[in-house]
Amino acid sequence: MNAPDLPLDPHCRFPDDFVWGVATSSYQIEGGADAKGKGPSIWDRFCRQPGAIADGSNGDVACDHFHRMPEDLDLIASLGVSAYRFSVSWPRVQPAGQGAWNAAGLDFYERLVDGLLTRGVKPYLTLNHWDLPDALQQRGGWAQRDTVHCFVDYALGIHARLGDRVAAITTHNEPWVISTMGHERGVFAPGLTSCATAVQVAHHLLLSHGLALRALRAAACRARLGIVLNLAPIHAATASAADQAAARLEDGRLVRWYMDALFHTRYPADVLEFLGADAPRVEDGDMSTIATPMDFLGINYYSRSVASADGSWHAGRSGLALTDMGWEVFPSGLTELLLRLHRDWPVPSLYVKENGAAFRDELVDGRVHDAERVAYLAAHIAAVGDALAQGVPVAGYIVWSLLDNFEWASGYAKRFGIVHVDYATQRRTLKDSAHWYRAFLQRQALRIAQATGA
Ligand code: FCB
Repeated sequence: MNAPDLPLDPHCRFPDDFVWGVATSSYQIEGGADAKGKGPSIWDRFCRQPGAIADGSNGDVACDHFHRMPEDLDLIASLGVSAYRFSVSWPRVQPAGQGAWNAAGLDFYERLVDGLLTRGVKPYLTLNHWDLPDALQQRGGWAQRDTVHCFVDYALGIHARLGDRVAAITTHNEPWVISTMGHERGVFAPGLTSCATAVQVAHHLLLSHGLALRALRAAACRARLGIVLNLAPIHAATASAADQAAARLEDGRLVRWYMDALFHTRYPADVLEFLGADAPRVEDGDMSTIATPMDFLGINYYSRSVASADGSWHAGRSGLALTDMGWEVFPSGLTELLLRLHRDWPVPSLYVKENGAAFRDELVDGRVHDAERVAYLAAHIAAVGDALAQGVPVAGYIVWSLLDNFEWASGYAKRFGIVHVDYATQRRTLKDSAHWYRAFLQRQALRIAQATGA
């Protein structure tokens, strides 16, 4: 096909060792919900609550990746990416979240990692992309301090099996989402609606991150270690004092809560004041554990956020293009965010660990002409280039997602993949965006080869 050219300026030159990748997560693609000894996760349970998932679906089969992994690895390699970001399903490898390990589950991830290495793709492993073993939830889940220690044992078990071959280990994906969407708004698993519980969960997630880092380092882990946060610039809807205050609070809860804890050993005073009696129980030493130095910070970026005191603002008001999720297409927000992170916190190295968009794709005659997604990706890659040109140490960019998949509470209706999945047949079809990404990566490789005379 004719791959559309990337509208990049010459200043958007990426370092030769810049990491380019694609991402997925276990519950969203694997299926095999109870295959070969896997235990249930909180998402297996949540999906069964009437009304929880827009189309009434679940991840029982998803992209059937559990049974199609080798072909999917071929697909990944065919794109020319240097990295694949995936997550381990904790209940697949340790069905009850503690105690006995499931050999078949561990074997699966071992074959996945070895299969990537054989194909020249670096494995970027995430330990927790939301599918907590349900057995742990029945004992209080992330609200319960003991879960922190179960997570450290799990991290050590994965490290013992795979730690010598993965390039990076991320502890948690998007603790804000687990905390806020899962425990305060109740729209994601486990579906709870308590602010106090949510902030305690956020604290335990951060604490388990710090403890896991220390334990992994003590076990001589060679993989680079970090966490992935969903962050965004928060803009006030208007210049009114009330809207400005709303934006400041939202920034406190989404960005500074995590960044200040991870890099400044404290929670932001304004957010603690807002929380009052809902503030988390913090034990001596917790904050310095949380701030254990990381090798990298990963961020997931999809759009900006706009805050208004009366909640009246909604995407679409600004006239910006919207994705199928109803999210504004706002690439400059990624540059703005990266510059701010670099300015306000001593962040070692940064990766965009997720960026992408859902659009209403149509498969016609074996093709998906997803021009909007191509434009979205090109603009966001250029936004990363802008941040790099201004001195931000960005080391990689990873597209969400390799495949169309189970988009949580939205079910299968929202398609984020650069590869189309026909769920009836499980046939994979490269969308134009996948062809474009591959051509872009080829041009990058060619430029490097020419520069080095290779
Ligand atoms: C992120 C999640 C990822 C995917 C994208 C669209 O919040 O990490 O699993 O659902 O959003």
